[in-house]
Parts: sequence; C-alpha cells; structure tokens
Amino acid sequence: MELHDIIKKRHAAKLFTGEKISSEHLEKLKESIRLAPSSFNWQPWKIKIVSDKKVLESLYKASYDQPQVKTASHLFVFCSFNSLQDNNNKLLDEMKPNMPKEKFDGFKIMLESALKNMSPEEQERMSERELFLAVQNLLLTATSLELASCPMGGFAHAEYAKILELPENLKAIVVVPVGISVEEPRQKFRFAHEDIFF
Ligand SMILES: Cc1cc2nc3c(=O)[nH]c(=O)nc-3n(C[C@H](O)[C@H](O)[C@H](O)COP(=O)(O)O)c2cc1C
Repeated sequence: MELHDIIKKRHAAKLFTGEKISSEHLEKLKESIRLAPSSFNWQPWKIKIVSDKKVLESLYKASYDQPQVKTASHLFVFCSFNSLQDNNNKLLDEMKPNMPKEKFDGFKIMLESALKNMSPEEQERMSERELFLAVQNLLLTATSLELASCPMGGFAHAEYAKILELPENLKAIVVVPVGISVEEPRQKFRFAHEDIFF
C-alpha cells in the first residue's frame, strides 16, 4: 500500500476480535515507534505494552468501558517524562563513542544549554507533545500491516498509573489499542481544504 492509501485507510477502530497479532507484526510496530523523530533526539517517551487479558480488563474499566481496550491484542500506553535530564544523559553516553571528540563536545554543549534553558514545565510539555509523533508512526504502521488501531485520550490517568504501577517520573498521555478490527472503516468526516489551509 502506498503511504497516501495507508493514511486514507487508517481509522479509529472501536472493537477488535480479541485475537493476538503475530510477534513479527508486534516487532514492526515497536520499531516504528522507536524510529520516530524528536527534538534534539531526546526520544522523550516510554511505552508500556499490555497484552494480558486480566490487565486489559482492568484498563477497560479505567477507560470508561470503551470496548476497544479489552478486545485489543495489545494496548500501547504512551507515557511522557516529567524531566528530560535522564534522557539527555543517556543520549550523550550513547553518542560519545560514536562521534569524533570535537563534534561530540559541540553536541554536548548544545544539548546541555538547550535543556538548561527549559523549565521543568516546558520539559514536561515537550515530552507530552512529541510522543504523538511516535503514536502516528504506530497508527500508520498498524494500518500498513492490515491491523487496526485507535488513539485514545479517554481514560482515567490516575487509575492507569495505579494499575500499571507507573513510576513517579512517567505520566500516561495517550493509549493505542491495536488488533484485528471487527468493523469496516466508517466514512471520514473532515473539514474542507479551504477551512484548514490559509
Ligand atoms: C488524542 C486523541 C484521543 C482520542 N481519544 C479517543 C477515545 O478516547 N475514544 C475513541 O473512541 N476515539 C478516540 N479518538 C479517535 C477520534 O475520535 C478519531 O480519530 C476521529 O473521530 C476521526 O476519526 P478517524 O480516526 O476514524 O478518521 C482519539 C483521537 C485522538 C487523536
């Protein structure tokens, strides 16, 4: 499928069959998330993948009983960071052996001064905003594999944190159930070009 057809085909699926997707497909979905772009390459996201039926059932209740959560094969819970310091340190540690010293020194100064100029709130907002690029990679890759998905913001954040025992530095921002859809895509409603572009 061409990218444009994938974009047209993707839709927010509301019910899955409950069947599990193959491990090969799962790896492709994970890789598509891993390759998403981010500011300074900080990769400010962490994704909990849930496939256990009992946990999915608990998360379904914490998602206002939206059936796509409990019928999915896997649920991707995209979490943001409340600070980018650890990501910055990790990135620098991993880049150091892979860059000529002079280039690395300049890169380090650039990253450290960028981070120093950001308040904790700005770091949190950046993380929350940028993880949506990784979400879109997941949605489109799923469609390309003939899988269905649904981006979801309708869930109780505190409940998710409790059920998944999320560490303090992570916040669940958006979740994406993925699986085999039982429904055909609905007709898309979108504003007209002239309403969007100016
Ligand atoms: C951030 C975000 C949160 C969403 N939350 C939900 C949700 O909680 N439940 C749901 O059924 N759909 C949710 N959707 C899906 C939208 O309703 C859907 O994308 C939109 O109506 C357009 O339909 P389409 O994706 O099928 O083209 C969400 C979409 C986005 C981008």
